[in-house]
Amino acid sequence: MTAAPFAKAVLDWFDQHGRKHLPWQIHRDPYTVWISEIMLQQTQVQTVIPYFERFMDRFPTIEHLAKAPREDLMAHWAGLGYYARARHLKATAEKILLHFEGQFPKDRATIESLPGIGRSTAGAILSLGFRQRAAILDGNVKRVLARHAGIEGWPGHSGVLKVLWALSETRTPLDRSDDYNQAMMDLGALVCTHRRPACCRCPILADCSAHQAGRQDSLPTPKPPRQQPVRNVWMLILVHPRQGLYLEQRPDSGIWGGLMSLPEFESINDLEDWCQRHNAGKMRPRWITSKRRHTFSHYHLDFIPVVAEWIGDEDVPWPHGRWVLPDALQGLPAPIDKLLKDPKTLKPPSMENLIA
Ligand code: ADE
Repeated sequence: MTAAPFAKAVLDWFDQHGRKHLPWQIHRDPYTVWISEIMLQQTQVQTVIPYFERFMDRFPTIEHLAKAPREDLMAHWAGLGYYARARHLKATAEKILLHFEGQFPKDRATIESLPGIGRSTAGAILSLGFRQRAAILDGNVKRVLARHAGIEGWPGHSGVLKVLWALSETRTPLDRSDDYNQAMMDLGALVCTHRRPACCRCPILADCSAHQAGRQDSLPTPKPPRQQPVRNVWMLILVHPRQGLYLEQRPDSGIWGGLMSLPEFESINDLEDWCQRHNAGKMRPRWITSKRRHTFSHYHLDFIPVVAEWIGDEDVPWPHGRWVLPDALQGLPAPIDKLLKDPKTLKPPSMENLIA
């Protein structure tokens, strides 16, 4: 579908099913569009409605808003969250009163220079408020376009965003760009929803890439998961020829709280110091096995096990921990249990891993 039939299908759908009676659609002007768009940026329509109505009763014009005490504005915003939005509203109203005699500026560059107004909000103000042709790209529109055109990649990436903007620009019709924009937002909110979209009610289903490929659930591509931090530790596997392996109880707080586990160190130097301090000359770090990773919900624990031998076969009591025979190991954290039960762990490795 080229741009014109696409817009026609969207507008025909809007005429029958679009939202036309929201409070900010009743006396639509740049001011009401601006306030409603800012409120709707991070908040659902149903939540916004009573806030918008109270706001307009109290601040019916840009001048009222510019001259209102800040506390009064904040009291009308309380509960909507993201309070920077309210601070930006006031700063913008003051600027418009000072520089533009209280009239909302009409050109895109000036609108975009105002605090808290980005490209999409400026597009909404221009199209819905001034009836100029202007494209928008809010979350709903991104979803509709990404699915329809089959655009891969997270829309937060600048390259993907650029493609979506270009698409939105070319598809926005010359006539009725206000209704078209409202229609795209409504389509995203009512039909092409994030979860379980109602494709059977969609006016642009016939050539929707996501629908054809059954990929509605995976487009738009979700934000990639944040890289989890990595914590590196060294773990000592101290082996006594008769008493077995040396374990210590972990502190009650933190990971594996209260479980028996291997002594843990921030660095190989700390591990060697510990061996020196505790029984100089009786323990000898022997080899380093390969690094292992255990992933917790909020970080990766990378640990390098170091095998050390107890030199001599006398019984060694130990105040902080205890010796456990390999067959009696139990109640250890799962990754440590797995490590110690792995036959390769205690087997001397090739020459290069031996510690001199
Ligand atoms: N979300 C953002 N702008 C909107 C509008 N004008 N109507 C409904 N939902 C919206």
